Formats: sequence, structure tokens, C-alpha cells
Amino acid sequence: MGNIVLLDDLTINQIAAGEVIERPANVVKELVENAIDAGSTSITVEIKQGGKTLIKVIDNGKGILKEDIPNAIERHATSKIKSIEDLEKTYTMGFRGEALASIASISKLTIMSKTADDELGFKVVSEAGNIVEAEETGCKIGTTMIVENLFFNTPVRYKFLKQDATEFKFIKEWVQKVALANLNIAFKLINDGKQVFQSTGNGNIRDLIYVLYGKETSESLIDVDYKEENIHITGVIGNTLMARETRKDQIIFLNKRNIRNQMLTSSADQAFKGGGTGIGKFGFFILNLEMPADYYDINVHPTKMEVRFKNESEIYRIFYHAIKSSILSKDFLGNNEQEEKKKDYVQNEFNFLTNHFSTQNNAINRIHAVEENTASDNEEKQEDGQELIKRENQRKVDYIYKGILFRTYIVVEIGNEIYLIDQHAAHERLLYEKIRANYKSNLKTNSQMMLVPEVYDLTHKEIEFVKNNIEMFQNIGFDIELFGENSVKINGIPDIDYRVNSKNVFLDTLDEMLTNERSTSKDIEERFIATVACKAAVKANMDLTPQEVDNLIQNLLTLKNPYTCPHGRPTTIKFSKEEISKRIN
Ligand SMILES: Nc1ncnc2c1ncn2[C@@H]1O[C@H](COP(=O)(O)OP(=O)(O)OP(=O)(O)O)[C@@H](O)[C@H]1O
Ligand SMILES: [Mg+2]
Repeated sequence: MGNIVLLDDLTINQIAAGEVIERPANVVKELVENAIDAGSTSITVEIKQGGKTLIKVIDNGKGILKEDIPNAIERHATSKIKSIEDLEKTYTMGFRGEALASIASISKLTIMSKTADDELGFKVVSEAGNIVEAEETGCKIGTTMIVENLFFNTPVRYKFLKQDATEFKFIKEWVQKVALANLNIAFKLINDGKQVFQSTGNGNIRDLIYVLYGKETSESLIDVDYKEENIHITGVIGNTLMARETRKDQIIFLNKRNIRNQMLTSSADQAFKGGGTGIGKFGFFILNLEMPADYYDINVHPTKMEVRFKNESEIYRIFYHAIKSSILSKDFLGNNEQEEKKKDYVQNEFNFLTNHFSTQNNAINRIHAVEENTASDNEEKQEDGQELIKRENQRKVDYIYKGILFRTYIVVEIGNEIYLIDQHAAHERLLYEKIRANYKSNLKTNSQMMLVPEVYDLTHKEIEFVKNNIEMFQNIGFDIELFGENSVKINGIPDIDYRVNSKNVFLDTLDEMLTNERSTSKDIEERFIATVACKAAVKANMDLTPQEVDNLIQNLLTLKNPYTCPHGRPTTIKFSKEEISKRIN
């Protein structure tokens, strides 16, 4: 007899379970998705001991016919598709017909269900996939699934489970996500007898965000409702001040299914850049993309978290537009700017961003390429950032300077438009670009010597930070030496064509860096550059000479994306004459 044998059904199911059921949260996912597919409006999840001893999902969906219940736990048994072609028009969460069989094979599974047509409900109990009990029972319309003793017959898998609290955390996170995608379903989550989460199912995403993230977040969000080419994107994004340190609050649903997709994430990054988040931070968004099922393939991986879009670049562009135009609707005073205009603007930005990898001769593009740490980073380092900016400056912009409002906002007229420029935010943006370009090209010479060197006494923590990062200070243009035990001597500060109080720039930067400590070195550099730019920038209420104003405006207006400071706050708002006359008449 040969060595190759056919596996028995239990083994096959257990292997399949390995693909989708790694931990209790995956069971919850599969059961809840089945409940959603059954058209439920109310779903309750009950957990005991992190799901290890009990996972119970109660729904009020259409139920399962008595004769179908045993089939439901058979492998490859599904009511949702009949052939692979059906996938192109399937919007249900499930279609593989594997989840229940997998779960049944590694637990004790009880199914109780009743359809509207049945007088009585039916109950089936299975252990390791074998039906051990089947009887009629009284119950409401809908289905209750009870999974007990998960992994009881796969001890290795059981051993890999984390503590109950951790397993429950995975479950909770997932239930909350699914509630965000299914706003018309009322979810309830109970852990060891205590209710820990509830959604109303009233369809309002802000109400739910209030519950999950609190009042402040729910009030700062911007609504997204964007339609293009059969694609409808809805949800919320964070405003400019809500950027996060991680990607945890970037949630994408595709036809209500939570997916991970790098292409979409990077499209969002682009859209937020300079328009939403600060440097090294991530935008906040919870967005659902609704589109025809034949635009993508979801059958890439058994967990259905991955997806392949047929027309990636188009989806990339549309996702970008959805986010960017929503950001702009807040940042621009041109709230009522015509939609078409906004769309053009967004498209221009988009073209600019996507082209900058290929257009080698455009100076600003290069600066941005440096800024974005792209693959071409090394090449860009050779470039003299300052030269680039100077060259750009030669392209003078014609404007009429109208004055400064409240000692804070510079007013200029260009063509048919009036610009109000926040002097601090604008200067900060400019300095950021410049300092960063210098930093990246390692121009240590970018230091302006001080007439008299200054010595500052520092605290232990401060001196440690300087010692550990002395090169970073030098790279950015601080001509700095350690001086005795606890002091530093500063001979020069970053050259930024502007009179600054060197002491403030140095000490404030240090202070800021120490107050918000972060982990990785790349982050430190990014933040350092942004901080120096911020501290060196002119403040509001500082009087600028006409020459300084001219410098600022000329430099700013030649930047392609002058509209936000590195922290994401708007630098500039503009009105057109048309808008003003519309409002006045
Ligand atoms: N809560 C429920 N309410 C109604 N029917 C259900 C429920 N749960 C399961 N079913 C029925 O049992 C079948 C098998 O469920 P199972 O989760 O194994 O497969 P699926 O959902 O079709 O596909 P997938 O493996 O991709 O989840 C479903 O097709 C559905 O007909
Ligand atoms: Mg399913």
C-alpha cells in the first residue's frame, strides 16, 4: 500500500479551521457575519472566559429551516452561492460554506433556530462535528449559536490562546468594528455576565462614535459622502487636529466588510498629507466603500480580510478624492466653493502627488519627494535643497499686499482672489520645507553664526537628550558643543533667513521634544524638524517688516501645497471676488 491516504472529514475540517479560526474572536466573527447575512436587526454576543468556555450569538434573523440545520455544519454547505460566478454579484459576508463546519469540528456547537414558517424551533447539538442531539424546541424567530469548549480536541491550538482578558479584547474590538459598519443593527456584547458594549442600530455613525471615542472626537469629525462611478464612499474622517500615532483608527469597510488594504491606506496617507495630519502621524478615518461586487475579488484568503481590486488605480484615485475633498470642505473658507472647482483642485493635487515620482525637473516636486521619504530618497539627498527653493523663488508671483489684520493675518490680493495668510502657520510651513530639505541633504553648513556664543545650563534629562542626539542638532544647523557637565555652548543656529531668538528656539525645541517623547529614531527626526520649524517661525502678534512679508508670501505662494502647516493646521484661506459679491448682493 502506498503512503498517500485520503484524510477523514474531521481532519479536513480541523485543518480548514486552522485557516480561519485561530482564536475565539474569529468564531465571533464568523457567527456574527452569519447573523448579519440572515438579515438580523439585533445581535447579542455573550462571552465567558475570553470565549474559551462559551461564545453565544443570538440573532433575530430569518432562521434556518429544520432540515437545513444538519447541512449547515457540513463542509462546503452554503445557501449563499451556487457557483463561483455568483461571487461577482454576492454581497453576503459568507460564501465559502466552511465556517460552521470548521467551528463544529473543534468545539461543542449548539444551534437553535426557527424560521417564520415553522411552528416550533429546532435544536441540534454537535461534538467535534458529530450530531449528538437533535430535537424540536420552543424559541423565537432567529438563530442562537452556542460554541462551548473551543479547541477542546486541538490542545496545541488551545495552548496558544492568551489570557481571557486579552482574548476578550480581540472580541470587543471586532464587535465594535462590525457595529460601525452595520449601523442599522443593534449590537450587544456581554462579558462574564456584564454588558460591555451596546449600539442602538439607529443608523447614526456619530452616536456610535460618541460611545466608542467620546464626545470630543465625535464632534470633531468630518462627514464623508462621496460618489463617483458606481462607488459610494461614506463615513467620517478626523479633522486636522485628530491625527494619531498609529493606524489603529483607520478603518476601512468594503461593502460593510472590514478589510485591510495597503493601496487604500496609502491613498489616504496622500490625501491627509499636508491637508490633515501632521508629520509622522496618521489620519483618523472610518469609511465604507460601497461598490458593485464585480469590481473586486474577495476570495483571496479564507478570512476575507484581503481583497484584489480589478482597477486599482481608479479606486486609489476615488478614495483620495473622497478624503481630500472632505478635508477641504472644512479647511477652506470656500465652504460653498462650487463642487466642480473643488474637484479640479483635488485632481490637480492628486496629479501633482502621483507625478512627482517621475517628473525629475520640477524643483518643488523634488522637495516633496524628499519630504515623503520615497524610494528616490537617496538620489534626492544629493540635491541642494536650498538651491531648489531659491530657484523656485525666482518665479515671482504678482500680488498686491493689502496689509496685516489683527497683527496675525497677512492679506494679499492675487488676480480675482483675496488670501488671508496666517503668518505663523505659513512661516512654519515654509521653514519646515526648507529645514527638512537641508536636513535630508546633510548640509551641516546651514548654520547662521551667532555674534556671541551662548552657554545654557540644562537639566540632567535635557543634557542626556542633547548628548544622545547631538548629530541631529548639528544636522539641522545648530552649531553646538557640550560644555562641562551640564551645559551646552551654542555658536550657531539653523539658518532660516530670519531674525529669531536663538535661546528660545533651542530651549523650546528641547522642551517640546522631551514633553512628547516617542520611540523610533525616524519619528524623532521628523518631529525634531517640525518642532524646530514651529519654534523658529514668527509668532502671531509679531510685526513683520514689508521685506519679511514679501519674502514670506513669495516663498509660500510658490509652494504647491501651501495650505497647511506641518501640524496640519490651515495656513491660508482664500475668497474669490465672485464669492464675496455673491454674499454681499
Ligand atoms: N445565524 C444564521 N441565520 C441563518 N442562517 C444561518 C446562520 N448561520 C448559518 N446559517 C446558514 O448556514 C450556512 C453555513 O454557514 P457557514 O458560515 O458555514 O457558511 P457561509 O456563511 O455560507 O460561508 P462562510 O464559510 O464563508 O462563512 C449558511 O450558508 C446559512 O445558510
Ligand atoms: Mg458564514
